[in-house]
Amino acid sequence: MKISLAKIFVFCSFWVILSSASSHEDFVQCLTRFSPNTNSITKQIYTPQNSSYTSVLESSINNLRFAGSSTPKPLVIVTPTEDSQVQAVIYCAKKHHIQMRIRGGGHDYEGLSYVSKAPFVVLDMVRYNKIDVDHEAATAWVQSGATLGELYYSIAQKSSTLGFPGGFWYTVGVTGLIGGGGYGNLRRKYGLAADNVIDARIVDVKGRILDRNSMGEDLFWAIRGGGASSFGVILSWKLKLVSVPEIVTAIQLDRTIEQNGTEILHKWQSVAPNLPKDVEIRVIAATIWKNRPNPVARTVLTDDSIARNRAEKTILLRFSGYFLGGQEKLVSMMNKEFSELGLTKEDCTELSYIQSAQRFSLLSTSESPEVLLNRTSFRIPFKAKSSYAERPISRKGLEGIWTRLLEYDPGTTNFVFTSYGGRMNEIAESAIPFPHRAGTLFMIYMRVQTDGDAEKRIEWIRELYEYLTPYVTKNPRTSYVNYNDLDLGVNNEEGPTSYKRASVWGKKYFKNNFDRLVRVKSSVDPGNFFRHEQSIPPFS
Ligand SMILES: Cc1cc2nc3c(=O)[nH]c(=O)nc-3n(C[C@H](O)[C@H](O)[C@H](O)COP(=O)(O)OP(=O)(O)OC[C@H]3O[C@@H](n4cnc5c(N)ncnc54)[C@H](O)[C@@H]3O)c2cc1C
Ligand SMILES: *[C@@H]1O[C@H](CO)[C@@H](O)[C@H](O)[C@H]1NC(C)=O
Ligand SMILES: *[C@@H]1O[C@H](CO)[C@@H](O)[C@H](O)[C@H]1NC(C)=O
Ligand SMILES: *[C@@H]1O[C@H](CO)[C@@H](O)[C@H](O)[C@H]1NC(C)=O
Repeated sequence: MKISLAKIFVFCSFWVILSSASSHEDFVQCLTRFSPNTNSITKQIYTPQNSSYTSVLESSINNLRFAGSSTPKPLVIVTPTEDSQVQAVIYCAKKHHIQMRIRGGGHDYEGLSYVSKAPFVVLDMVRYNKIDVDHEAATAWVQSGATLGELYYSIAQKSSTLGFPGGFWYTVGVTGLIGGGGYGNLRRKYGLAADNVIDARIVDVKGRILDRNSMGEDLFWAIRGGGASSFGVILSWKLKLVSVPEIVTAIQLDRTIEQNGTEILHKWQSVAPNLPKDVEIRVIAATIWKNRPNPVARTVLTDDSIARNRAEKTILLRFSGYFLGGQEKLVSMMNKEFSELGLTKEDCTELSYIQSAQRFSLLSTSESPEVLLNRTSFRIPFKAKSSYAERPISRKGLEGIWTRLLEYDPGTTNFVFTSYGGRMNEIAESAIPFPHRAGTLFMIYMRVQTDGDAEKRIEWIRELYEYLTPYVTKNPRTSYVNYNDLDLGVNNEEGPTSYKRASVWGKKYFKNNFDRLVRVKSSVDPGNFFRHEQSIPPFS
């Protein structure tokens, strides 16, 4: 007797639906049974039947490309408030073969902290956001669900001369940031966020709570830049705080390509990475209207309808920088070190450290620092990519980028050059998994907004990435893991992923550190429970 394929298919999908429905009930039952305090965990469990399920899920979806109804949704969201609840989620997800995704600030570029094709639970650390600053010791214990804004705010409550070398954007989560390295405007002075972590508490696949001492140096190495979500659930980090002056200076200087912008940028490529460590300058390239007042809204561009009309648009280069000191000293130093930039006092703003955190998050500096506690910022759907340069790009090469931005700017784009050098050069490539150290001049970041004609826009950014090939690192062509990009390769969905397959994307993010990451993974999670499209695989 023949059974039609269609029947098998219908039967199979029916079975999948049934089994996921029952496994999710079993999972929830398991949670309440396994948790020491049933009452308290019940309040942290959201299934689609709970009215606030959607708002909890959407609360930190920062890439709206993954907010639509076609994006798979979790069976359950758990927002733990106690360590034992995290242990229960791991235990029950393992027991009922449900995938687990771990969410901190929700800024993952590919939505991997809250999307999975297999039936899954989201462990959302949003309520794990306590911060304990010891200003005398210049350290802080930070729970893993805290945001950078919450961290900067908490430090400033205790001291105006302590800071942390985290990222620019206030709603980014500390754990995702540290998990991939994490850079901001103190990178040239103090290195990455992950370079300034001195201890951590993690729950491993066996449900054990480990600190630096009990997890050992291999695992402690891996979670600082190697993608924390491949190894366990981070509960908290101990951070080393760094000293900052009472007054810092923000730089903002705009030059269009008609104003010699390309020449200045060409020079910037070799000068900026060699400036004193107290100063950093990034360059944001944007297409703007030639004849309109205030043509740039934030660093984001607006309106694409006449983007092809090259005659009406030009490229604006925004030199956006930061100096650990006052403007007088900065201007005289810059005129010595980088006179081509033509920096004047008018391009400078003196601020307190906490005001500077507000400014680089595009928040008003006249408002009180409480604005940094808001976990919701403006959101767009986007696709992004990154590359690293070890040599300056030729003028012709730069002009080719402008042509692409001008002639086929499909809408809101963001193209940023971020200088390295300074402290970044002094830290060994193998010190933590983040490998882009000495020799790296700058990082290139490119992003396109994907509403409207998403496919065409993604194709456009892929072409731009291809265009840059001759100008950036090769063998491997490196990228920043915190700008994760599934175009670089993904793990096998059906079964184990071979070392060879994973090293296609793995070497791009981690160079030779990838091999050590695979060894650590093989020893701490050989069954590959903690996994996603670009998690570190164990040796199969
Ligand atoms: C608007 C914006 C601005 C940005 N600015 C910067 C910047 O200035 N500098 C910079 O370096 N990067 C920046 N990034 C990139 C950012 O560092 C990464 O997107 C980072 O992964 C976000 O962390 P998250 O906790 O917010 O994200 P999530 O999506 O919550 O998590 C990211 C990854 O970390 C894992 N994770 C989260 N919490 C835990 C946990 N408790 N235990 C284990 N794994 C966990 C997740 O599973 C996921 O794999 C920016 C991103 C955006 C969208
Ligand atoms: C979700 O609904 C269940 C069943 O009604 C309830 O027990 C639980 O407390 C609800 N969750 C939250 C967070 O309110
Ligand atoms: C443009 O920049 C170059 C290189 O920095 C410099 O030599 C030249 O004088 C500049 N031209 C103008 C018009 O400013
Ligand atoms: C937080 O920021 C969002 C986006 O800018 C804004 O809409 C919201 O009102 C802010 N919330 C608070 C409490 O200020």
